[in-house]
Amino acid sequence: MTKISVSTARQHETIGQQVALQGWIRTRRDSKAGFSFLEINDGSCMANLQVVADRELPNYDHEIKQLSAGCSVTIAGEIKASNGRGQSTELHATSLRVHGWSDPNSYPLQKKRHSFEKLRQWAHLRPRTNTFGAMARVRNCVCRAIHDFFQQEEFLYVHTPIITASDCEGAGELFEVTTLDLENPPRRDGKIDFSRDFFDRPSYLTVSGQLEAEIYATALGKVYSFGPTFRAENSNTSRHLAEFWMIEPEMAFFDLNDNMQLAEKFLKHVVRTVLSDAGEDMEFFNQRIDDSVLATLHAIANKDFVHLTYTEAVALLEKKNADFEFPITWGQDLQSEHERFLTEDEIGGPVIVSDFPASIKPFYMRVNDDEQTVRAMDVLVPNVGEIIGGSQREERLDVLESRMQQQGLEPDDYWWYVDLRRYGTVPHSGFGLGLERALQFITGMKNIRDVIPFPRTPGHADF
Ligand code: 4AD
Ligand code: MG
Repeated sequence: MTKISVSTARQHETIGQQVALQGWIRTRRDSKAGFSFLEINDGSCMANLQVVADRELPNYDHEIKQLSAGCSVTIAGEIKASNGRGQSTELHATSLRVHGWSDPNSYPLQKKRHSFEKLRQWAHLRPRTNTFGAMARVRNCVCRAIHDFFQQEEFLYVHTPIITASDCEGAGELFEVTTLDLENPPRRDGKIDFSRDFFDRPSYLTVSGQLEAEIYATALGKVYSFGPTFRAENSNTSRHLAEFWMIEPEMAFFDLNDNMQLAEKFLKHVVRTVLSDAGEDMEFFNQRIDDSVLATLHAIANKDFVHLTYTEAVALLEKKNADFEFPITWGQDLQSEHERFLTEDEIGGPVIVSDFPASIKPFYMRVNDDEQTVRAMDVLVPNVGEIIGGSQREERLDVLESRMQQQGLEPDDYWWYVDLRRYGTVPHSGFGLGLERALQFITGMKNIRDVIPFPRTPGHADF
């Protein structure tokens, strides 16, 4: 007998087939007429398949009538047309085998609704709920769309290292990687002697694969990395994780305008794919989490992004300074409330802000002719704020070296990065999309901890 998924079994074309389904019971309802309705889910789609189990089945009384939420089963039978609401097929069981029972008195998901806070404590069970099942499928759909986009655009997927000695963003939010004995580290001249550590020097978990992606872009043209990224920022917000996934394209011969165009085309591709391929799950998010999510996504797919320079953005924001917790003046970084004002109130859609003050941006961004600003770009979206940060890169050797020195970095420590400007330097650009920020935007989930399977935040690294 062929094993099929619930998703396949729900298709009209399967009517008349003898099949086996495997999954977990969601509910059981017994009819007075002498049979039971079971709802079975196997994760292949949001919907369950209705199973009709007749009392003639040999284990009807002692097993089938004991089934409850969470029990795992294999059910064989025939797919028939259903006249139940919201389903065109159902399975008429000819046999049902129970693999694992699930005590209804102690199973935590027996009760229908739990808060997201509570479910975070049950990271081992929450994928069995509708919300987290839908999230896993949408996350998968987004990742596939990302790879498809860059492959179609002739990018090479490169794997940048997770352990590195450099601090790309220069913000000092690094997790250190060491095998030294923390109780009794080797010392020399009163300081810890990292020359005796595993890598002979201090090493960290990467905050960005950009610097290494630049190495491959300046050899192979267009590349992207897509991997885990780590930041030890002690910010307990609904938009920050200590471990998140970042997609970082890096392109030789791209200036800032090319970079902004690519970011827009990329986001639109991801949004359109989700709308076309994850329709059922997105309906769920729109109904249960945020009823504006589908309208927002449809609008994005079809509208041009608005562009503002940082200077223009600050001029708009200054008029509203009385309403902000942190009033803004030229030279300060945008806070989340400013980003949300711009996208939600002022523009009503995505905004690309460019040309930020050099003083608030990392050493690698290309300095403009005014020498005050750099060719940076942030893509801001409603409800979330910044989802992409990127820039044109400084390709001039002398300017790069002086920017490094200004920011207290020693060019010799980054000799390999500087070499890229020494041998065949090219204008080039790139950006980073935070996967979880993108998922928050797409699904409307309020807390970033609920769009990643196992969130890592200050004080939380269980499971
Ligand atoms: O703006 P960021 O810091 O840019 C970079 O790291 C560049 N090196 C990227 C590049 O040009 N290749 O981070 C990029 C994006 C942010 O816009 C945000 O979406 C996400 O990464 N991000 C985080 N997401 C979750 N938790 C955090 N702590 C994040 N920090 C950044
Ligand atoms: Mg940023």
